[in-house]
Amino acid sequence: MSGSHYFTGAPDVASERRPITVKLPDITLELTTDSGVFSRSRLDPGTRVLLEHAPPPRAKGPILDVGCGYGPIALTWASRRKRSAVWAVDVNTRALDLVRENAQALNLGNVQAALPDDVPADLRFTAIYSNPPIRIGKSALHRLLKQWLGRLTPDGSAFLVIQRNLGSDSLQKWLNTEGFPTTRVTSVNGFRILEARPRPEGEAPQSGRGTTS
Ligand SMILES: C[S@@+](CC[C@H](N)C(=O)[O-])C[C@H]1O[C@@H](n2cnc3c(N)ncnc32)[C@H](O)[C@@H]1O
Repeated sequence: MSGSHYFTGAPDVASERRPITVKLPDITLELTTDSGVFSRSRLDPGTRVLLEHAPPPRAKGPILDVGCGYGPIALTWASRRKRSAVWAVDVNTRALDLVRENAQALNLGNVQAALPDDVPADLRFTAIYSNPPIRIGKSALHRLLKQWLGRLTPDGSAFLVIQRNLGSDSLQKWLNTEGFPTTRVTSVNGFRILEARPRPEGEAPQSGRGTTS
């Protein structure tokens, strides 16, 4: 990954598409990646941990991948749950084009790739799977998580993979302080999977001030 492309709307680096194979224990996906998108030459190791070790959705309903890149998380869940709508959200338009093309090539009609503002405002999700963009900085990350975790259904869960030495423990603490009950599902190869549940109805965050840092 090149840091300069990390949260670019439309990468200016020349397109250089390539095929990659995403091989998981239950499924193998042939995907296309491109320059200017996250981890274009292989499935990111954190994403692999999430796809191999996070539990399936706790309830039926729409699934969301926040920060989808070329779509390995969204496309895996769309393949595993063909009857569920899967939303893939990113700010990188090249990444969104790849998700659409990959979904078409895999014949997955249940995938919607969209910019954050293009997701219908009243849509709620029963499951969120994300390898979140840690490098956008703490307060931007906190804003992003609050925005999307606020759209979980009451029986929903968000599964987030975070590298241990990129602050997974402090993020877990912050999520709890913000009122999203959060536990560690597992820790594998230096990555942690956190499960965050929605705020219990009517409960204010402990921080009480809606801080972002
Ligand atoms: C760690 S990468 C994960 C990409 C992909 N899910 C994967 O596993 O290969 C995080 C992604 O978040 C995207 N991103 C950055 N800021 C974002 C924002 N505000 N909203 C949605 N996505 C964002 C980046 O463009 C990048 O594709």
